[in-house]
Amino acid sequence: VSAGPAMQVRKAAVIGAGVIGSGWAARFLLNGIDVEVYDPDPELARKLAAVLANARVAMTRLLPDALPAEGKLVISPSVAEAVRSADFIQESLPEREDVKQSTLDQIEAAARPDVIIGSSTSGLLPSRLQSGMRHPGRFIVGHPFNPVYLLPLVEICGGAATTEATRARAEAFYRSLGMQPLSVRKEIDGFIADRLLEALWREALWLVRDGVATTAEIDDAIRYGAGLRWAFMGTFLIYRVAGGEAGMRHFLNQFGPALKLPWTRLEAPDLTDELADRIAEQSDDQAGGVSIRELERLRDNCLVSILAALRRSDFAAGATLRRYGEELAIRAPKDRARIDESQPLALHQTTVLADWIDYNGHMTESRYLEVFGNATDAVLEYIGAGPSYVAQGHSYFTVETHIRHLEEAGEGARLRVTTQILGSDAKRLHLFHALVRDADGTLLATGEHMLLHVDARARRSAAARGGVLKAVERLSKAQASLPVPRGAGRAIGAPLA
Ligand SMILES: NC(=O)c1ccc[n+]([C@@H]2O[C@H](COP(=O)([O-])OP(=O)(O)OC[C@H]3O[C@@H](n4cnc5c(N)ncnc54)[C@H](O)[C@@H]3O)[C@@H](O)[C@H]2O)c1
Repeated sequence: VSAGPAMQVRKAAVIGAGVIGSGWAARFLLNGIDVEVYDPDPELARKLAAVLANARVAMTRLLPDALPAEGKLVISPSVAEAVRSADFIQESLPEREDVKQSTLDQIEAAARPDVIIGSSTSGLLPSRLQSGMRHPGRFIVGHPFNPVYLLPLVEICGGAATTEATRARAEAFYRSLGMQPLSVRKEIDGFIADRLLEALWREALWLVRDGVATTAEIDDAIRYGAGLRWAFMGTFLIYRVAGGEAGMRHFLNQFGPALKLPWTRLEAPDLTDELADRIAEQSDDQAGGVSIRELERLRDNCLVSILAALRRSDFAAGATLRRYGEELAIRAPKDRARIDESQPLALHQTTVLADWIDYNGHMTESRYLEVFGNATDAVLEYIGAGPSYVAQGHSYFTVETHIRHLEEAGEGARLRVTTQILGSDAKRLHLFHALVRDADGTLLATGEHMLLHVDARARRSAAARGGVLKAVERLSKAQASLPVPRGAGRAIGAPLA
């Protein structure tokens, strides 16, 4: 993973691996980075494995064919061991200034002096945390959100001694992990997001204390309304739209006076035993016996659905995810030299996701065409007819398809597609895909497709251009002596009465 000038992160150290640190470990590993973890918790290995399992499921659903090979996880016996050979260090210790400062001291005693130390603190000031450091310029806050492996936001906040180079390199690194860095302009307690969340939280506590609403009713007030629109437009953009055609100024004129009414309170209520009991009881009722682990999985499933939907709109967190997927595809090692063009090309792999399964308990038919379509795209990319060729106004359109379903595919199965070139000329490319289960090599389906080369501006067929046509001719020649695969050239195999 390259992260700005001269920063290659092959190994990251995670110091403190509770809720947040284990989420960081998962994000690093799923980006192909090796991780060394230090945390004195005797149950560390079990907890890490559970978080990593959830993260793997969620990220595979989001990016089924783009994730790199996972990094290697090592549990270290000490802070010094964990950081000694790390290229990046992320601290996620308990939110106590003294604990963080004394551990930073141990980290600096063993780590290379140029390695960046990111802190997950939710609100402690970086200038104070770095005040006793030998090399304070490399310290920066990278404040993530739970679950760290799914939510893109990371607030970046430097202290007085943090260098600009550290800020730039940390931002580039977090971005390379699929995150959306938000640079905090002024060092301030709680940064930006937690100040907003705390304001809402204080008011919610009053509503429970005064018996106005239960914890479940307060959550309903968010999740059926404002929460849905917050997820992609935040507060200001939504209020602008709420102002109608006159926009933000009209909105301020209309609702400004209400700000003077005592609708909300600023001081939090005292967290008396009585209030704490009431919140805990209401929260138990609300959860209805569902365990935290189950709630985490439900939360992840819902986040994956929202992120995938936003990707289709190429907006907000969905735009971040789309860019990340594209970068992963570019970064994936493409060992062209080792591809034997005289055999069917193995250019596409994927995994059967839970929502690909239909009422018959196996991969549903529309997904076969999706997989074959992606395999065709991989072939087009291979011959030089990928996105930049399309941007120049040339493309291939699929004009005919025949799919045979031979065996069933279940959830989680790893699939690979191999592609034989059955024929070609300047305008035509005739492909035959074989979809195989990776584990046992079983042939699951075949897809035969005729593609026509087009001038995308005129929307008419036209001969393929120089390098693409050469690649098509080279491949066709290399595969000319392969036997015609079984099932090629078929239409529906039943006589019409
Ligand atoms: N929980 C959240 O939603 C959230 C969100 C963003 C940031 N943060 C911040 O992340 C940090 C960690 O929070 P958390 O929620 O993961 O807490 P946590 O209590 O779940 O995890 C803290 C971990 O640190 C370990 N630890 C304690 N002393 C240690 C030491 N000396 N060396 C190494 N490990 C040690 C503990 O065993 C524990 O596993 C805090 O700074 C917190 O403010 C939390």
